[in-house]
Amino acid sequence: MATSTLPASTDRRRSSILLKTIMAASGLFFIAFLLLHMYGNLMILSGREAFDEYAEHLRTFGGAMVPERGALWVMRIGLLVALVAHVGSAVVLWRRAGAARSVRYQVTRRSYGNFYVKAMRWGGLAILAFVIFHLMHFTWQTVTIGEAHASPAARVIDSFSHWWGVGIYVLAMIFLGLHLLHGIWGAAMTLGLNTSLERAENIRLTSIVVTTLIVVGFLIPPFAILFGLVK
Ligand code: HEM
Repeated sequence: MATSTLPASTDRRRSSILLKTIMAASGLFFIAFLLLHMYGNLMILSGREAFDEYAEHLRTFGGAMVPERGALWVMRIGLLVALVAHVGSAVVLWRRAGAARSVRYQVTRRSYGNFYVKAMRWGGLAILAFVIFHLMHFTWQTVTIGEAHASPAARVIDSFSHWWGVGIYVLAMIFLGLHLLHGIWGAAMTLGLNTSLERAENIRLTSIVVTTLIVVGFLIPPFAILFGLVK
């Protein structure tokens, strides 16, 4: 019986492309969430009441049509599914690249270390660690910066009245910015959007604009609070 390794390697290539597409799609979902979250956070610039009202609105969104926190839970489940898909695909691709590299090492004994690939992996893990810290800080309130408060606005204002509270979030935004910058570019490549030099230039520009918008937008409230512009 004639056997060939070609179908197996073709299958593997196809499944790697599928995993990269899953990473791109879940990444785009995260970006939509980040833009909405960033916009919501800017409400703090309108004062404590506006922000508390917005936080309350998140819980009652959908009115009588859905149970309290119903829409919030739909979003949370969506984020969790996207997180499992994104991290799961990354781990499988990571292991495959590692296995392929160990074969290459035996053949050539040369290192193919790639700065961007490493930065995406370790940066992604740093963002994951930040998200866990962030949920403990604002959602579960098991970690406090400053004092504990019943009002979401008071929690945010107290946290960012401390320079080190701002420092933690600045560090996280640096990791997030680097991840987004290369992630948007990579997602566009996976989705085959770079069909010409001009398009590649547009993708590069889009990744810079979206990343800047998210990072600057997220950092405006902490710095406005630190400099006493929000009381
Ligand atoms: C300076 C940056 C940020 C600030 C000030 C901030 C602030 C907040 C606050 C106040 C809440 C709690 C909202 C409530 O009262 O329920 C929250 C929830 C959350 N934030 Fe952020 N956030 C920031 C950045 C981020 C980033 C970068 C991510 C993701 C990478 C993120 C993901 C989340 C998630 C998943 C929740 C939980 C939503 C829920 O299930 O209730 N945040 N954030």
